[in-house]
Amino acid sequence: MDAAARAMMLFVLAGMASFIIIHVYDNTHLTMDRYLLVQHQLPETKALDALFYRLNSMSDSPSTLMQANSPSRVYHLRSYGGADPTGKTDSTKALVEAICDALEGPTNGYLMEGILNLGGAQINLDGGIYIISRPLQFSVAGRGNLVIQGGTIKSSDNFPNDGYLIDLSPSTNNSSLEYNYEFVTLRDLVLDSNFRGGGIRVVNSLRISIDNCYITHFTTNGITVQGGHETYIRNSFLGQHITASRDTGKRNFSGTAIILMGNDNAVSDVVIFSAKIGIMISGEANTLSGVHCYNKATGYGSTGIYLRVPSGLTQTRIVNSYLDYTGIVVEDPVQLHISSSFFLGDAYILLKSVKGVANGVNIVDNMFSGSNKGIDNIQLDQENGAFTKIDQVVIDRNNVKGMNVKATVARRSEHGNGSSWQVDLNSVLLFPNLIKQLHYTFIPNGNYFPKHALRNVSNNQVLIESNVPVEATIYITADQGCSFSNC
Ligand SMILES: *[C@@H]1O[C@H](CO)[C@@H](O)[C@H](O)[C@H]1NC(C)=O
Ligand SMILES: *[C@@H]1O[C@H](CO)[C@@H](O)[C@H](O)[C@H]1NC(C)=O
Ligand SMILES: *[C@@H]1O[C@H](CO)[C@@H](O)[C@H](O)[C@H]1NC(C)=O
Ligand SMILES: *[C@@H]1O[C@H](CO)[C@@H](O)[C@H](O)[C@H]1NC(C)=O
Ligand SMILES: *[C@@H]1O[C@H](CO)[C@@H](O)[C@H](O)[C@H]1NC(C)=O
Repeated sequence: MDAAARAMMLFVLAGMASFIIIHVYDNTHLTMDRYLLVQHQLPETKALDALFYRLNSMSDSPSTLMQANSPSRVYHLRSYGGADPTGKTDSTKALVEAICDALEGPTNGYLMEGILNLGGAQINLDGGIYIISRPLQFSVAGRGNLVIQGGTIKSSDNFPNDGYLIDLSPSTNNSSLEYNYEFVTLRDLVLDSNFRGGGIRVVNSLRISIDNCYITHFTTNGITVQGGHETYIRNSFLGQHITASRDTGKRNFSGTAIILMGNDNAVSDVVIFSAKIGIMISGEANTLSGVHCYNKATGYGSTGIYLRVPSGLTQTRIVNSYLDYTGIVVEDPVQLHISSSFFLGDAYILLKSVKGVANGVNIVDNMFSGSNKGIDNIQLDQENGAFTKIDQVVIDRNNVKGMNVKATVARRSEHGNGSSWQVDLNSVLLFPNLIKQLHYTFIPNGNYFPKHALRNVSNNQVLIESNVPVEATIYITADQGCSFSNC
């Protein structure tokens, strides 16, 4: 075929494509037309060859025709009967149907064993607002590679109070499956619980993405993750009430924005703007980064991030986060890392003893800002008993403005004239009566060369004495954190 003929053909085909595409708007099943459009965007010669090939095979090979006509994996909600994108009438039936169609759609092999690969099927809300009266629960388990995106889902006034708008738990369990779902992406969604129940629940699933979602008006929880691994919550905004800090109703904020009852999840670049508890964690090895909690002030009984891990292994990293008038509470921390975070408005970190364990804790390189009310940046709750198993706890190098700094390392210098130097380190040291390592340097003024010794260390107080009175400066470093074996 010469160049002119190709050009002519391209013209004709482009015309056909646009004709058919107009047609698509009335009929969602014409996948072939999509296919043509995609091919048409390829570099010119290849595209033409591909087009001719497809057109020819369409006309004479039934098997290719079937392949080419295989149903689209994009399910536009507006094409379902009863879908009302204006949010006036109930669209539950349409959403349930679209989800069923997607879950029962064509598959290509498996992801994890038993998880059928839906090939990237998409349920597209096309920017509509849909009201539902019961949770969107998946009918079957064992599916993966699916996206729900692009619109608003809102609870109706009779939505169950214990339900979640999107519930990734199968309505019938399949005991032969290790996980329910894998690689399901929920993105670009506003989920409005209308003060009835919660936003999203993910049960025993793997590699779920919640991305760019705005979850509000929940009364229970914004997002709950139960079991499974690797639910990644990114770039999202959660709040019970739509407010930006100066809300007179703050005292009444309730609910929890995110609950992680599983391991290996990540919350990154997420803002929690109203809730009683920002993030509650009871699983291991979760990571929080770039989380801004201004859910409700500590003074009103709220917590930004609460870690209570029953397995006894906290194994949580909180980095680069912003705790804004609300703090972090950790019960019996075992392997906890908090760094590079900013605490504003007298927000502090509370270590709460339940079994008296604090092991492998790094709280370093954070900034704390308060209002000179004498509040400690790190605090202990020993109401249930003292911390008795303290090992490898490093709380150091945090800076404070308008708050008291607490640490596990205290450095002091003391100048005096006499034969005894008593230094009290309690104002800095976090744990009472605990010094595991101590160094001091004795620098006499003038031409003296006295004998001196460390005479007493008790209750975080240090006594150094010299054999003759001298004028001297002593420098002390006391450490509560390291055990003898690892310092
Ligand atoms: C349970 O999952 C297995 C593996 O995917 C599948 O073969 C089986 O049909 C499922 N059973 C039910 C009742 O869905
Ligand atoms: C499925 O199993 C889980 C865990 O055993 C259970 O909590 C849940 O209620 C079951 N769901 C159904 C629909 O039976
Ligand atoms: C908080 O809730 C109580 C009881 O529901 C109500 O009386 C009060 O007005 C609410 N306060 C604010 C500030 O909204
Ligand atoms: C230190 O104390 C001694 C004895 O009380 C006194 O003689 C000496 O002047 C003092 N030195 C200084 C620098 O105050
Ligand atoms: C060390 O000091 C404490 C109080 O400061 C005291 O009770 C204790 O008897 C002292 N120990 C010795 C060996 O002097």
